[in-house]
Amino acid sequence: MGEVRYRNLVGGEACDARGGGTIDSVDPSTGAVWASIPRGTATDIDAAVAAARAALPAWKQVPPLQRAALLRRYAELLAGASEEIARIECRDMGRPFRELLAGDLPACVQMWHFHAGICDKLHGDTVDVGFTSFNFTRREPIGVIGVIIPWNSPMSLFSAKVAAVLAAGNCVVLKPAEQASCSVLAAAELFAQAGFPPGVVNVVAGLGEEAGDALVRHPGVGRVTFTGSTDTGRIIHAAAADTLKQLGFELGGKSPNIVFADADLDAAAAGVSTGGVFTGGAGQSCIAGSRILVQASVHDELVDRIVEHARGVVVGDPFDAATTMGPIVSDVQFERVRSYLSIAEKEGATLATGGRTGAEVVGLDSSHAGGYWVEPTLFTGCDNTMRVCREEIFGPVACVIPFDDDDDALAIANDTSYGLAAGVWTRDLARAHRFVRDIEAGNVWVNAYRRIHWALPFGGVKDSGHGRDSGIESVLENTQLKTAWIDLA
Ligand code: NAI
Ligand code: MG
Repeated sequence: MGEVRYRNLVGGEACDARGGGTIDSVDPSTGAVWASIPRGTATDIDAAVAAARAALPAWKQVPPLQRAALLRRYAELLAGASEEIARIECRDMGRPFRELLAGDLPACVQMWHFHAGICDKLHGDTVDVGFTSFNFTRREPIGVIGVIIPWNSPMSLFSAKVAAVLAAGNCVVLKPAEQASCSVLAAAELFAQAGFPPGVVNVVAGLGEEAGDALVRHPGVGRVTFTGSTDTGRIIHAAAADTLKQLGFELGGKSPNIVFADADLDAAAAGVSTGGVFTGGAGQSCIAGSRILVQASVHDELVDRIVEHARGVVVGDPFDAATTMGPIVSDVQFERVRSYLSIAEKEGATLATGGRTGAEVVGLDSSHAGGYWVEPTLFTGCDNTMRVCREEIFGPVACVIPFDDDDDALAIANDTSYGLAAGVWTRDLARAHRFVRDIEAGNVWVNAYRRIHWALPFGGVKDSGHGRDSGIESVLENTQLKTAWIDLA
């Protein structure tokens, strides 16, 4: 049993799992258990869905501006609790505290405000099909929506998805990731204070194959929006078949970050290293630019600069203000990332920098020696057929792949099962537009990387999923259209 005990939110009540089970939550910077979360199961999901369904009729009748006011009130309460919640998230999943406090949490607050603004702007159309009828469409809530999120950005994904679900007038049952549920469970405590009626928002922590699976299969849930791995996306797709659920999927990636010789190489080197994959979250990002494509004529020069950036990264205690990269979230994920370091070696890639893991990174006598540390690691001499260039590693590990010309770069960029994001570094405007058009990905950045915003739709193509988070699009995906025909004859 951990030191701090978090609880589920079901029907407005903070509660333990009905079966009494708990899951230890580990501080990945020490490897020690620091908290416990409920191990919710199908019984808890049933209770949460029942509470959501009970709340739905009255919630649907809340006028849009009142709904907006609740979302705004929640935003204000979240702003007030930001420091505490950032502290919990830092402890629970290891992203640097400074980054969460200055970046993620303020963005979360804005997401709630943004979605508040959409509540009263949802409307259907009138459609003219002839003189003898009046025809129109209405945007209606779907009902109860299941939300399943991963560990890497709990508060951001919780905010983006739940705010959109609520803005559209639905009730929600959320299952956070078992590795990092605490910040979201803490944030769930604010819904009652904001004035949300009990049952409109429910949060049930638990394992994917227990609580997650029960949520996906529940006949009372009309849609599931999921962020996580492509493999789990496939399992959810199959599990949702019986109830014909609507699905939104934001899955994995193996995103190309492409540097042309004409680019501002300083900006590009920073953008593909600390900006792309050697991130605060240790590359545990669906949009990590883990394939760095470099035009051959600047290859050596750029690699030198990337190595310099990588060596400047400060890996260590995520609460330390000097730290720029935290640990890997769990022992399982740590071993997975380490396995790719040996795979790269076996495949004949050249280690340009990094490669050390565990206590070696922070010092054997450090109080953080038990943490899941991986140094920013760069492999050169890679070609796109290698497993390390094709599979999502989800750690601070990048591969450099050289290319000759535009056609070559595009072919390599698109030679992947994934299609989440891409970066292009060039000063050539026509080339920038061609790549934006021709890259198979849901997000393309030019002379920038990993830039996301609550007003911009975010999602993928191919094995990276379908559906969009953020933007008005995500709210619309949480509605269903009704078509009306009124006879005037
Ligand atoms: P996962 O995709 O299995 O977990 C994400 C969420 O789905 C968690 O809340 C989990 O409990 C839930 N889940 C798992 N199995 C489920 C099921 N059968 N039914 C319903 N919900 C289920 O990811 P996992 O296992 O934590 O990480 C494995 C790999 O996935 C990572 O190494 C990484 O490559 C990738 N990943 C990608 C993410 C992304 O944003 N692209 C996020 C997290 C992981
Ligand atoms: Mg944890």
